Amino acid sequence: MRQGLSASARQAIAQIFAHLDYKRLESVYCYEGGEEFWRKKREPCRRLGTNVAEVLVKQLPPGGRSLYVGAGVTELPSLLAEAIDHQRHVEPYNLRRLEVTVLNRACRGLPFRFHACDASLAHGRFDHLWMVSVLNDPERFPHLAPLSYGRADPVTFNPVGFQKERRVVQRIVNRCMAKLSVPGLVTTSTEEVVWIADWCHRHRIPYHVERKQYPTALVGDPICLIRIGARRVASRSLPKP
Ligand SMILES: C[S@@+](CC[C@H](N)C(=O)[O-])C[C@H]1O[C@@H](n2cnc3c(N)ncnc32)[C@H](O)[C@@H]1O
Repeated sequence: MRQGLSASARQAIAQIFAHLDYKRLESVYCYEGGEEFWRKKREPCRRLGTNVAEVLVKQLPPGGRSLYVGAGVTELPSLLAEAIDHQRHVEPYNLRRLEVTVLNRACRGLPFRFHACDASLAHGRFDHLWMVSVLNDPERFPHLAPLSYGRADPVTFNPVGFQKERRVVQRIVNRCMAKLSVPGLVTTSTEEVVWIADWCHRHRIPYHVERKQYPTALVGDPICLIRIGARRVASRSLPKP
């Protein structure tokens, strides 16, 4: 039987989405057409985010700790569901100051705050790491992102720029994955799975990528779950580097 979120988690999600300052979020998500963007996206974002939250809370033990790297509006349903339905400690990080201000204002009175700094500064261990659409962000990684999305143009591709960005991405992965207790769970996009798998190979830790994928509304990268330290050897293993 499908066990959904509690009525209070659903209500909290609905209230936050109803009270977000979408006007201020326009420039965070769009160069232009921000009003239209949020008019079209806010409801799918709430709905699809709630679907992921339902799946996630079933996989996580009550009372654990989740580190959210690059958490924005997309992550709100999961953050709320974890905190309200599972009494889990959730720590969301996001480098975009304006978005953090808007999110913290909307989440006043809730048991978590967004931090406007690098997630690798988080203290302690976490049994869940969420990192969705961070390592393939075209704004931050203009040379690496086309390769991640399978759209690199061999005529214009810049391998030197790519190598620099790959080092930055691997540093983020190394620092954040070092905070994950094993066994643990990673929520990421299908495009970012390779970076987590690469870390697991380098550390000789087995992993299992769950087959099911979940659509997202804002960036649009599908989400999947990876069990780290899963007893069964990786079902989608990569060749060792
Ligand atoms: C493309 S946005 C994705 C936002 C959201 N996860 C989503 O899927 O809609 C990437 C986000 O990652 C954040 N980010 C990148 N590196 C980060 C880091 N080291 N610590 C915290 N946030 C980071 C950026 O500030 C930005 O908000």
